[in-house]
Amino acid sequence: MPLRFLSKALTIIQDDHLGKVNAVLLKELNDGTYIDLALNISVITDYSLRVQVDEIDRQLSIAGNITSPVTETRYNETSYWAFKESPQNIAFKHSLQSDMLSLQYGHDNDHQYKAEIFLYPFKINLFYRNVLQLVLNEGNLLNVEHYRSRKSEEKEDSRDVLPEESTFDAYNDEFKDSKGDTLPFGPESVAADIDLIGFSHVYGIPEHADSLSLKDTSDTEPYRLFNVDIFEYPVQSKYPMYGSIPFMVGVKPEASVGIFWVNSADTYVDITKTALSYVDDKAIDPIEGVDFSSVSTHWMSENGILDVILIAKDTPSEVSSCYGALTGYVELPNIFSLGYHQSRWNYNDEKDVLSVANSFDEHEIPCDAIWLDIDYADGKKYFTWKPDMFPEPERMEAKLNETGKKLVVIVDPHFKTGYEISDQLMKRGIAIRNSDGKDAYKGHCWPGESVWIDTLNPNSQEYWEELFSNGSNLLGYSTNVHLWNDMNEPSIFNGPETSAPKDLLHYGNWEHRSVHNLFGLTYHEATYRSLVARNPSIRPFVLTRSFFAGSQRTCAMWTGDNIAKWEYLRESIRMCLTMNVAGFPFAGADVGGFFHNPDSELLVRWYQTGIWYPFFRAHSHIDSRRREPYLIEQPYQSYIREALLLRYKLMPLLYTQFRKSYKSGMPILKPLFYDRPENPGTYSIDDEFFLENLLVKPIMAQNQTSVSMYLPDDRKYYNFFNFTETLQGEGYHDGIRAALNEVPVYLREGSMIPTKERYRRSAKLMTYDPYTLYFATDENGNAKGQLYVDDGESFGYRDNGDYLELEMSVERGSRIQSKVVGGSGNGLFTSTLDSVRVERIILINCNATGNSVTVQQGEQRWAVDLIEENGYNIIRNPAVSINKDWAITL
Ligand code: NOJ
Repeated sequence: MPLRFLSKALTIIQDDHLGKVNAVLLKELNDGTYIDLALNISVITDYSLRVQVDEIDRQLSIAGNITSPVTETRYNETSYWAFKESPQNIAFKHSLQSDMLSLQYGHDNDHQYKAEIFLYPFKINLFYRNVLQLVLNEGNLLNVEHYRSRKSEEKEDSRDVLPEESTFDAYNDEFKDSKGDTLPFGPESVAADIDLIGFSHVYGIPEHADSLSLKDTSDTEPYRLFNVDIFEYPVQSKYPMYGSIPFMVGVKPEASVGIFWVNSADTYVDITKTALSYVDDKAIDPIEGVDFSSVSTHWMSENGILDVILIAKDTPSEVSSCYGALTGYVELPNIFSLGYHQSRWNYNDEKDVLSVANSFDEHEIPCDAIWLDIDYADGKKYFTWKPDMFPEPERMEAKLNETGKKLVVIVDPHFKTGYEISDQLMKRGIAIRNSDGKDAYKGHCWPGESVWIDTLNPNSQEYWEELFSNGSNLLGYSTNVHLWNDMNEPSIFNGPETSAPKDLLHYGNWEHRSVHNLFGLTYHEATYRSLVARNPSIRPFVLTRSFFAGSQRTCAMWTGDNIAKWEYLRESIRMCLTMNVAGFPFAGADVGGFFHNPDSELLVRWYQTGIWYPFFRAHSHIDSRRREPYLIEQPYQSYIREALLLRYKLMPLLYTQFRKSYKSGMPILKPLFYDRPENPGTYSIDDEFFLENLLVKPIMAQNQTSVSMYLPDDRKYYNFFNFTETLQGEGYHDGIRAALNEVPVYLREGSMIPTKERYRRSAKLMTYDPYTLYFATDENGNAKGQLYVDDGESFGYRDNGDYLELEMSVERGSRIQSKVVGGSGNGLFTSTLDSVRVERIILINCNATGNSVTVQQGEQRWAVDLIEENGYNIIRNPAVSINKDWAITL
């Protein structure tokens, strides 16, 4: 049913800085009468267009009709949780014609936007750089199911129910899992269609075990966003999973767009890919090689207000940056958390934990954290320890600390009834409540009958902090203990779809159905804040299973209970890439597979792939065989060790990428289309990626000894392990060797990457290790790259500028230099960096001659050896300190 924009009710608020359109949308009913909807349009962060639609007079219509204490207004706090802060409105120019209101805005003449808002039928055309990019409501699917009393369901031809709405199960959900849902307001969905003009590929909207480029859903179920604990999830499916980020990115050579559907209720997204011709019947000249089509998307949520943000930019990186400016960028992680994590369900006792940690050291395999799953807690009552198994946890934690290792323990949001914590949750009124609003809801989870902490309640935060504080009378966790928040969808074994009944009540008397997808975020944020409160000088690490838009600000995620099969290995990269597109790059999957037992080949390949996950943890089910790397037979064990050493070697590069993402929202595991959006050949590739300028193709199929690899451009790529094998030419290259101890990793010309190459037992112990720098110069003899350094665990970088940002380059093959371009060289940490040197520089394609070079740092100059080896140059021990500028003349 077309909506009418009521221009009579239009107000445009304009002053020097603000712009806002308030208007009324009329929804015509069957009998010709209208329901008034409040329309609010604003231009916010980085020139994104926000459109909000709410119901007017809802409380009036509801008055007297319901007995439940539930809040009557539509849920409008999703953005409060998802956004980093409340966005400022940006001013626009406007003009009103008889059929259209037009808004113009932009930061300069080249980056102008125009939003054409049509009055009847209501629709919005969004232009960027004079090209139509997004259309809202072309298909007239925008709808807000207004409040109707139960009487409406009685007559099929009710004036209230439009043809596209349904009376089926409106007030009484017959769905087998939902029986008992009290549905106090009946149907109250919101929906809208948004077309991406001239696009053929869209990405994002995790979490699904599907391809990176999203599929057309015309003949299938839509993608569903509904946080659930899904048992043995299938791959290549649109089923909902543990987390949701309702953010989609569209990419074409000339522009990229983002759609952020700010809604935390059960949500479906349909995607239809069609030929372009229907758009205003205008033919657009095809550009060679580009598949011209359009993507129509249809977003539907169970309730809440309609709140959608439309972004249009030149590149996907700019879209990411804009989305991150709204919802926050990834936190700079504690450096240990970029190392290798060893987990299983369960390590049984203190002896077991320490023996696992020691075995890593004995086999010279680096490892940063040992994890404890639910069985460390006495009767699965979190914040306790099994007294016979972990008699002195602090002793165990201190022992791990000796080699810089951490302990990560699980704390889930359910608390066994009859336990001090559940009693407190009920006494303080901070448990999730039944639909009558009175008692705490009781359901079943690991400990048996349990209650759930309601972390939407600010008083829960206070209690949570108490529990984590050092003064807690329950056994606290030492400062080298970090946290794992699992089961926070929330997972409830006897609940509908293994989750919470939708009519439960949260703080503010909001129904669970309104906040379902963001509950997990409120929980892991409470944990993060409690850890900061406990020790404000250490960056906490929190892993979450459930997540929402904004989760990237405080934690890492993993893809849940995968299976030790090749197709799950393959899927893990697609899912991590999608998380990177959706602004949440700190992502990983259980290395080795959670369920079942991988054979040695699969395990080796999984480690070789897992070292590229931004979050790198091996984990497995309680019934799986032990498979810690040192237990694996040779030669597989050494292949796994080599992979792990490569992860640690690349730690400076990885950490520098985190820093970039923290500043700009850029993906860390980067899909090829982020690197070359102008090349549509990259759009479907989801088995290769970049880590900065390293192009990687992990081997994710059985018995593979060679692969073909796609290059996104015409530059030269050097095999990162021998520098002699090269690839060049956009497109596929066949026959690349990939024996079981080999992974195709190529360094692109023109770049520099920093490494640290000494084996250490943990990342912390690498802090003062020397660097090796790799420069691969291009045909003009140029190469450049960045290095970011801080202490890796405090907030000194943020509070005192205690960090260094270095730009390193080779120019015209004759001069190498490093310049400090950011941070203070005399902070508490950076002032200790005099002793940190560059111990080696590898020059690829530089063809330097002679056997020595001159190094200069400050007033000092000295000569060091230059040698030639297998076609590349090595500068041996230039011994420059990294905290001051230096140069080397070749
Ligand atoms: C479910 C998690 O996904 C899994 O990783 C964990 O081992 C079990 N819960 C037990 O806590």
